[in-house]
Amino acid sequence: MIRSVVQGCGAYLPERIVTNAELAGKMETSDEWIQQRTGIRQRHIAAEGEFTSHLAIKAAQRALERAGLQGSDLDLIVLATATPDLTFPATATRVQAALGMTKGAAFDVQAVCAGFIYGLSVADSMIKNGLASTALVIGAETFSRILDWNDRGTAVLFGDGAGAVVLRAEHGEGTSHDRGILANALHSDGRQHDILYVDGGPSSTRTTGFLRMEGKEVFKHAVVNMAAVVGEVLDKAGLTAKDLDWLVPHQANKRIIDGTGRKLGLPPERVVVTVDRHANTSAASIPLALDVAVGDGRIKRGDLLLLEGIGGGLSWGASLVRW
Ligand code: ACO
Repeated sequence: MIRSVVQGCGAYLPERIVTNAELAGKMETSDEWIQQRTGIRQRHIAAEGEFTSHLAIKAAQRALERAGLQGSDLDLIVLATATPDLTFPATATRVQAALGMTKGAAFDVQAVCAGFIYGLSVADSMIKNGLASTALVIGAETFSRILDWNDRGTAVLFGDGAGAVVLRAEHGEGTSHDRGILANALHSDGRQHDILYVDGGPSSTRTTGFLRMEGKEVFKHAVVNMAAVVGEVLDKAGLTAKDLDWLVPHQANKRIIDGTGRKLGLPPERVVVTVDRHANTSAASIPLALDVAVGDGRIKRGDLLLLEGIGGGLSWGASLVRW
């Protein structure tokens, strides 16, 4: 039996912080509205000329350093992003070159805000099937580039950033008490395409397009689907919510996060929340939250973590990780 064990994590946020008050100076909104509806206070925005790959490379370097490894040790990079540098090649290949990794494979996965869970599941499956032994899973986004800054309903919700984890194959019989990824659950429902999408792309409009969202509809699906998928992944591992040490959710909206925490019966202090500081960074939000809670000493080796997220597609999923 092979297990994918987390060796380290890292993150990077662009320097520039944009507060709600700054946005309120540019559009018809207020700090009060944004905080009440979402819990967001500020977001980081990438500088001119700072691309998704640049954020990803910095997060990856920090994760490798914490894992005590080098780029040349890697044989897999899975980069979750909906905002690649270019239409092709995969942004992951730019990261590969920058890290000095010359073997194995590097590719992108696209599941928007569920992207990190998808990337983690793909890397875990490849490790368990013997296709890779040392993998970097990155979530990196520059959503500021696909926001319609004239649409206050979406412009205030998102931010830029990147986070990464290093996974390593460990051999031997394992129980749910051993470290590693214990279970994953992935879902999508293409019928919900029109409630969250970008209205451009190389094949349809030959433009990049802007994010469009029916927030209330996405909210309803998020609450229902998150409640279902967290139960599913716990069942798969033969565990219950009582076994959990931490919920590390996708950071879209404080109200959705609180709802999932309540459903699991977790006290608020067991739920990692960074949406106030980072806003919604799509595929980057879960590894960014992991990095904060590992960095401040809350998440410790051996803790049981439930990661979950939902995004455009709709696509959603959850992973259970013994840290
Ligand atoms: N500032 C002030 N007022 C605003 C703003 C703003 N930034 N945006 C909208 N409003 C107004 C609206 O015009 C509306 O006014 P009206 O009543 O006069 O028509 C009012 O506020 C209420 O708007 P709603 O959209 O109904 O507000 P709601 O309470 O639904 O909150 C929100 C909106 C925050 C977007 C919420 O629906 C939400 O969080 N949805 C889920 C988003 C999500 O989880 N996405 C995850 C995936 S993201 C991805 O995959 C890329």
